[in-house]
Amino acid sequence: ERVSLWGGRFAGGPSEALAELSRSTHFDWRLAPYDIAGSRAHARVLHTAGLLDETALAAMLQALEQLRADVASGVFAPDPDDEDVHTALERGLIERAGPEVGGRLRAGRSRNDQVATLFRMYLRDHARVVGGHVLDVVAALLQQAREHLDVAMPGRTHLQHAQPVLLSHHLLAHAWALLRDVERLLDWDRRTALSPYGSGALAGSSLGLDPEAVAADLGFDGAVQNSIDGTASRDFVAELAFVAAMTAVDVSRLSEEVILWATKEFGFVTLDDAFSTGSSIMPQKKNPDVAELARGKAGRLVGDLAGLLTTLKALPLAYNRDLQEDKEPVFDAVDTLELLLPAVAGMVGTLTFHGERMAELAPQGFSLATDVAEWLVREGVPFRVAHEVAGACVQACESRGIELWDLTDAQLAEISEHLHPGVREVLSVAGSLASRDAKGGTAPARVAEQLDAAAARAAEL
Ligand code: ARG
Repeated sequence: ERVSLWGGRFAGGPSEALAELSRSTHFDWRLAPYDIAGSRAHARVLHTAGLLDETALAAMLQALEQLRADVASGVFAPDPDDEDVHTALERGLIERAGPEVGGRLRAGRSRNDQVATLFRMYLRDHARVVGGHVLDVVAALLQQAREHLDVAMPGRTHLQHAQPVLLSHHLLAHAWALLRDVERLLDWDRRTALSPYGSGALAGSSLGLDPEAVAADLGFDGAVQNSIDGTASRDFVAELAFVAAMTAVDVSRLSEEVILWATKEFGFVTLDDAFSTGSSIMPQKKNPDVAELARGKAGRLVGDLAGLLTTLKALPLAYNRDLQEDKEPVFDAVDTLELLLPAVAGMVGTLTFHGERMAELAPQGFSLATDVAEWLVREGVPFRVAHEVAGACVQACESRGIELWDLTDAQLAEISEHLHPGVREVLSVAGSLASRDAKGGTAPARVAEQLDAAAARAAEL
């Protein structure tokens, strides 16, 4: 017969079907080291409260240490009859400490406050790991930006040529987005650094146990203010899943560009052999699988977030068993990023950019037309007129099959009296780039400053 944590009131154990449905050890076992740390801290407050004498505390801590080692080595593992990580570890403790000592640990705690605490601890550790991986992607972007400070490319809106920009400026745009994701992780951690231990099932503990002492022992900044909130809230899970999904979406947008840039039509980059795959039938193929997997996995992380929010929606306070469904989606999100981000960092860091090709395309598609209009504004022409005049230049070129800089002085003057040869200073990519020299603009001097600012921000995080 199955043993459970609630024997007294029940005449028999759970049915096979319930046990199968209920079991969570196949996904919550990863919380085991945290559960044992929580048990150590709990044993100490039981001792402080006079509920565990010196000898029992020593025996308890020794048994927990043995259990920790046995979990780490795999000697102790969950049984099919263990409902969850907490049940399994209680069995392991009683096996090692005996029922007299081992049976004392459950006083004043519930799996509800336990799991809420361990889950926070686990996610805080892994959020730090993920943040480190995101910073590795940022470092790869910054390195590429630093190595290509002189490369111009076509800046696009609607995927159409819009205005020339520096490649470094474009790469830094991705870096800033990822830096904000790391900032989000840090900000999330500040809110998550409160321990629910001591909340009990929902109403708190009557045994004089100090939640602040447990919180400090477990590396939290303090204990939660409200035991109902402590056991029932999972916004920390959903919020982390959002940050994970946002990060994946940011990586996906970068990846989508890498996929486009690696096509024959763009010809902007070549992927390193170590970060691309071949085809089993087409010998010439070199495929951007890392980028495609990044794009694909972003969808998966969005699904993880949507699933979590749907689980939480309409759940009454306090704990409901639905909350057991909170773990797999966020574990999946974190596992996926831990797998994906190192590959993305490697792919970005080893890209070979074809600067000449990018620079050649930068002014095509009349991407200097805005420069003509803004030059006219600096000449005192109202923008409405300037826009018309620059548009007329484009039309004149299009009908003749030439580029803006091919227009003769006479043709320019014919389009508008304001178009004197001085306009040629902005009819080059270099002139266009240099003219966008306000903060945040693509002028080489500004981009160099921006690169330093991004590196400084990355170093702070
Ligand atoms: N395994 C549960 C979970 O992950 C924790 C146990 C709480 N169960 C309960 N019946 N109160 O949420």
